[in-house]
Parts: sequence; structure tokens; C-alpha cells
Amino acid sequence: MRLQNKIAIITGAGSGIGQGIALAFVKEGAKVVVADWSEEGGKETVDQIRKIKGEAVFIKTDVSKAKDVDEMAKICLDKFGRIDILVNNAGIYRAYNLHEMSEENWDEVINVNLKSVFLGSKRVIPEMLKQSKGKIVNVASIAGLVGFAQSGAYCASKGGMIALTREMVLEYAPQKININCIAPGVIKTAMTKDMLADPATKQFLESSTPYPRLGEPEDIAQAAVYLASDESDFVNGEVLVVDGGWVAK
Ligand SMILES: NC(=O)c1ccc[n+]([C@@H]2O[C@H](COP(=O)([O-])OP(=O)(O)OC[C@H]3O[C@@H](n4cnc5c(N)ncnc54)[C@H](O)[C@@H]3O)[C@@H](O)[C@H]2O)c1
Repeated sequence: MRLQNKIAIITGAGSGIGQGIALAFVKEGAKVVVADWSEEGGKETVDQIRKIKGEAVFIKTDVSKAKDVDEMAKICLDKFGRIDILVNNAGIYRAYNLHEMSEENWDEVINVNLKSVFLGSKRVIPEMLKQSKGKIVNVASIAGLVGFAQSGAYCASKGGMIALTREMVLEYAPQKININCIAPGVIKTAMTKDMLADPATKQFLESSTPYPRLGEPEDIAQAAVYLASDESDFVNGEVLVVDGGWVAK
């Protein structure tokens, strides 16, 4: 197994991509902390993990709040004694034309998607430094690489994640902490449910994806397993694009 006895915190694991990552990690031998602000989603993921005889704990966490993130790490350390892997996955999307977006909406997206990466990494890196080993996987988006209309704060947050990932590599690769990004294309989750329910938008998203289907959470989960495993030790600051070819066009 590729993550045997590793302890992983996965934020936003109560739904979609994060839930897929949590299940894939458990199947590879990891014990996981499901960190999400949704109690319902988080508990559902833990139930699914227990059904396959895996070990998991749910911690109600708002990733944009330092107090919650500190508590998340503390509970993980109390229960499992270590933190080997952090997946910064929790995220939100808000569609607005830039001139119509409120300051509150801008702050909300930047805080949940980008500030959370700062807070989570700041909290777990000292633990990883003690072990001279660690893996941080940041779930960004192809929206951090190419523009998407009505997505100003979202694109800025995901581009910021990619830039922050590369910055952290310079500080922590020497201590054998691997930090990488995944940039998913369109993945079928709660986040894209409404977009895909609109036939014109669905047609646009499908026709923009050269591969003949849209993505599933498992597509991203397999990339996350690789970046969290020892197989990727020499991969640092990479943006692994998993998008069915969207940005290859
Ligand atoms: N679905 C896509 O097409 C797609 C594409 C590119 C990138 N992404 C990114 O993948 C990540 C996961 O998205 P998804 O599609 O699985 O969405 P999702 O809505 O299914 O899941 C997001 C999860 O994050 C949690 N969450 C949101 N805000 C939080 C907060 N402040 N604190 C803690 N938990 C919070 C939600 O409760 C939910 O469980 C996001 O960062 C998203 O931007 C998704």
C-alpha cells in the first residue's frame, strides 16, 4: 500500500473531491482526519470510510479561521500523534462579474480558498519539520492557470495557491517537505452540479474538454495519492493538471 500508516488531514473532505481523496487514501493504508465545516458531509465521509474498515475522525473546521485550524491540528495530534500529509482542498466558488462582486464576496472566496492554505500549512509545517518529512497537496484549479469569466476572486485565489506552493518549496524542500498542487478541470461534484444542470453550460464545459467525458473525484484522488506518496519525493512545486486536456488547447 502506498500510504501505509500515514496520517493525513484532508480539508473539505465532506463532499466531492475531498471525499474521493479521503477514500482513496484509506484504501492505500492511511488514517485520515476529515476536516469540513459541514457536519453532515463530514460524518457521511467517516461512515463511508468505516464501511471499508478504514480509520477516520471528523473535525468540524472552518479552514478560514486560525482558531479552527489550530484545533484541527491539535485533535489530529492528540488522536494519531503525527501529521504526515495535509491536503488543502476545501474551497468555494462564487460567480459574479467583477464590477458586481461585493467586498464581502471577494474576501469570502480568498479567505476560504487561499488564506486557508497559509493557515493550514503554517500550523502543520512545524510538525513536519520535527519529522524531516511531510507532504502538502494543494487542490488549486485550471482557473489558476487560465481565465474564466465571472470568476475573478476564484481565479485569483487559485493562482495565489499555485504561487504560494512554489514559494513554500523554496523554504521547505530542503527539509524534505514536498509541496505540490493539483489543478483539476471540470469535475462532477456539488460545486459544478448547478452548472451541469444547465444544458448550454454543460455543452460548453464538455466541448471545452478534449477527453470524451468530464472528471470524477476519483481522477483527482489518484493524483493526490501519487503526490502524497513516497513515489513523488523528487516532485516539488509541480502543478499537476488533471483536466481531460482543457488547458492543452
Ligand atoms: N469541481 C470542480 O470542477 C473543481 C475544479 C477545479 C478545482 N476544484 C477545487 O476542488 C476543491 C473541492 O471542490 P469540490 O468540487 O469537491 O466541491 P464540493 O462543494 O463538493 O466540496 C467542497 C467541500 O469543502 C467544504 N468547505 C467549503 N468551505 C469550507 C470552509 N470554510 N471550511 C471547511 N470546509 C469547507 C464544503 O463543506 C464541502 O464539503 C475546491 O478547492 C475546488 O475549488 C473543483
